[in-house]
Amino acid sequence: MKRSLKNIPLQKNTVQSKLQKNAKTNSRATSSTVLDPQILVAWKKAIQKFSRLSPEVLAKKSGKHNEYDSGLWRKILQSHSQKLSELWWTYTQERRDLKRLPLNTAAWVGPYLMGFHLPNIARNLMILERAGLRGLVEPHFISVKNGNKDSRGEVLKPESTLPLQKPVSVRHIDIGAGAGACSLALWSYFKKRKVNVLWGWELIDRSRPLLQAAQGMLEDVDPHSKVQTLFGSLHEFKTKNILMKHLEKPSQLNIISMSYLWNEIQSNPSLVLELLRYLKKWGQSKAPAWLLISEPAAEFSARSAQLLREELIDQGWLVKYPCPGLNKPCPMLATQVDWCYSEFTMKQPTEMIEVDQFLGITRNHLGVSGYLLVNRAAEGFCTPSVGKVLVGKPRLNHRVEAGLLCDGEALHKISPLEKGLFRGLIVSNQKHTVNIK
Ligand SMILES: C[S@@+](CC[C@H](N)C(=O)[O-])C[C@H]1O[C@@H](n2cnc3c(N)ncnc32)[C@H](O)[C@@H]1O
Repeated sequence: MKRSLKNIPLQKNTVQSKLQKNAKTNSRATSSTVLDPQILVAWKKAIQKFSRLSPEVLAKKSGKHNEYDSGLWRKILQSHSQKLSELWWTYTQERRDLKRLPLNTAAWVGPYLMGFHLPNIARNLMILERAGLRGLVEPHFISVKNGNKDSRGEVLKPESTLPLQKPVSVRHIDIGAGAGACSLALWSYFKKRKVNVLWGWELIDRSRPLLQAAQGMLEDVDPHSKVQTLFGSLHEFKTKNILMKHLEKPSQLNIISMSYLWNEIQSNPSLVLELLRYLKKWGQSKAPAWLLISEPAAEFSARSAQLLREELIDQGWLVKYPCPGLNKPCPMLATQVDWCYSEFTMKQPTEMIEVDQFLGITRNHLGVSGYLLVNRAAEGFCTPSVGKVLVGKPRLNHRVEAGLLCDGEALHKISPLEKGLFRGLIVSNQKHTVNIK
């Protein structure tokens, strides 16, 4: 296979190499994020659709979409190798060049899906799963016991809940949706939790082919869902009033997401202000809303996400992940000793392992600066989380790490840190902690 990476001097991304180093020792920390098999089928189908191989080759070689056909996969990988390398380089090393990538042309969709789609689904899924473990309750649990109703006649207290049989209508507004990684993560999270959802997807992006790919995958995994794609730049949506109409007619649960978008738009003050105004309206809405945010784990983007969190708290949002539930100003921002992100492992499908081998990386251990926030109307769906969250692992020497723990108000140091713990997890063994001023 022609490895065009050879032409590009790939330096190791710092966070990625930090994660790879930790991967061996940390593998027992938590069960791996596993992607739903239906997602893998839809993903491969989308890649094949957007790949430049002739239909004859695909027809002859592919068979069923859910079968791993190494010959066909390598052919597709080969056909996308140059663009895949370029995308990897730009996203990990030279993000300033992002604007230059013509992601709005169909030829780039295959490489994008191959290189970035599955990890981004896994990242968002991990955030939801960890928030779920901390007591985030979906609205299929609605009480019949104590009649404490909200404006739409639903009872929101988790301690008085029973599973609801009829489907729950959930609208997901995916801002900068790309190929719909966040929507697919949400779909798979609710499926795993056996929630019967009537999905309404609203995908907004300036890349038409990525939206087409997203729509195809969502319709493949859930043919009953309603997919609306809104093609255009985010600037246009205020005038088109598209974003606002859902505030006037909310669903039972409304989920807004910005996955790997903030770092692309934060240098645009008017757009940032407009989006913040919009998020504030949802933060203060009487309709239950969640807000899911993912950003790269690297220092600059993670710190920007920490700052965004402060802004959202001021707007009335409550942080359910990764913070321990006090909704206070971030103590890590005050000390600047480290930056906050989460780590987890992903069970990689064979096709992704081949992509990694081509890129010369291993992504079974991933990082993300990820947040799940809820508004007050959705707070009843959550139990308060308690404890200290592992937010940093300063190295004491080449073999031993300390742990930086956050209790929501202050940082504490635990030394040495038990091996195999991941950033973003609640650490129960808190012996020998020292407060950090
Ligand atoms: C890194 S991709 C992330 C895609 C997806 N959310 C994910 O997590 O995989 C960022 C997406 O934001 C879109 N985007 C960036 N700026 C935008 C803008 N001003 N208007 C509309 N879409 C924008 C890009 O087209 C791209 O699809």
